[in-house]
Amino acid sequence: MAKLWKGRFNAATHPVMEKINQSLPFDRELAEVDIRGSLAHAAMLLKVGLLSKRDHRAIAGGLKSILAAVKAGKDPFGEDDEDIHMAVEAELTRRVGEPAKKLHTARSRNDQVATDLRLWTRDKQDAISGRLLDVMRALVSVAEREKDVVLPGFTHLQRAQPVLLAHHLLAYVEMFSRDRERLRDCRVRTNRLPLGSGALAGTTLPIDREFVRRELGFDGLCENSMDAVSDRDFVVETLACLSLAAVHASRLAEDAILWTSSEWRLARLDDAWSTGSSLMPQKRNPDLLELARGKSARVFGALVALLTLLKGLPMTYNKDLQEDKEPLFDAVGTVDLVLESLALFLPTLAFDRAIAAAMLGDGFLDATVLAEYLVERGLAFRSAHEASGRLVRLAEDSGRGLGGLTLDEMLSVSPLFEADVFRRLDPAKTPGSYVSAGGSGVREVGRAIARWKKRLSA
Ligand code: ARG
Repeated sequence: MAKLWKGRFNAATHPVMEKINQSLPFDRELAEVDIRGSLAHAAMLLKVGLLSKRDHRAIAGGLKSILAAVKAGKDPFGEDDEDIHMAVEAELTRRVGEPAKKLHTARSRNDQVATDLRLWTRDKQDAISGRLLDVMRALVSVAEREKDVVLPGFTHLQRAQPVLLAHHLLAYVEMFSRDRERLRDCRVRTNRLPLGSGALAGTTLPIDREFVRRELGFDGLCENSMDAVSDRDFVVETLACLSLAAVHASRLAEDAILWTSSEWRLARLDDAWSTGSSLMPQKRNPDLLELARGKSARVFGALVALLTLLKGLPMTYNKDLQEDKEPLFDAVGTVDLVLESLALFLPTLAFDRAIAAAMLGDGFLDATVLAEYLVERGLAFRSAHEASGRLVRLAEDSGRGLGGLTLDEMLSVSPLFEADVFRRLDPAKTPGSYVSAGGSGVREVGRAIARWKKRLSA
């Protein structure tokens, strides 16, 4: 292949060198943003007098025709070029001839690729943020639909206290909402323009970076040319945001795996989102959820890959940086697909209210409420905790729940009990008595659903 940098070389590069050096097989992904960047760069060259009107017309026309082909899914690039930047320039030369040779004036692939990657990443931050919104909307709609379902909340995967299923679902809405905040915050630092930094030092030519910034919709300039071409911290930050979103998706998936397991049977997997076994005819497997959990591993891998890639690099650009793309592309594609699937899947989860009710009957979920009853009557919490614990032991030893004890038995542990205690001892009704802000109380969760519906409709 003819190299655009061939001037100072005598002999051809080894074919294996070409193979390891080539990024075109994966950086085609940047074709669209690369051309957008070139159009802005060419317009700037015209403005400052580095390009004639005629040459600019030829270049811009050629770039737009390539862009149209790319957008139509008919990318005109061959297999041979080193990277997408070379491929676009070569194609432009085939289409418009001589003027194409002026496009790279006052530009290096170093500031070009950094610009491409920031444009691409910015768009994907917005796209993932939209996907997160879809998942949040799905969770809120299920929370509202199931708003009177009470089930055990767990700590240590041991039944702990009764909670509303809606409260459990809204916990994930909070997590995904923070993921969106993080992406928005990281977008601010991503959205700075590297172009105009040249290879590393800037240029002697009278370019106008501010013009290019406005054309491409960047909020500011990268203010140091050496930093601009050599750092990829915006990629690391993006991958960190994606990693947390993947953690949250993975935990939600794990919860749904438990809910739909044949041990719990709290919810049933819809046919459209289950898979069977090639051997066991009865199986209904949660493959989607397992993949949502498992694919998070690739995202964390990408984050670690980028940190490792950057840590020993001397200033400024080094070819190592070409390795930034595949992990980023893979992580974005992975999180995008996981979130898309979860948003579609969640509303199909059918919860079984009878099972939820049965789960409440077991595990002394009202023991904390019983202790709080004594606190309301003046007992110190530690003593109340002990009294309630003794009643749990008494009930457990005789195969009953707390509600199955007699008032006399209660009085044998504390004189503060009265007959009204039994009204407190139904775990299904406990959420009706939680009153603290942010807790799993019926009123509080109702308010939270309303709050999220309003926020998410905006
Ligand atoms: N394909 C390269 C990359 O992804 C583009 C920049 C090449 N720059 C260079 N000086 N060789 O990083």
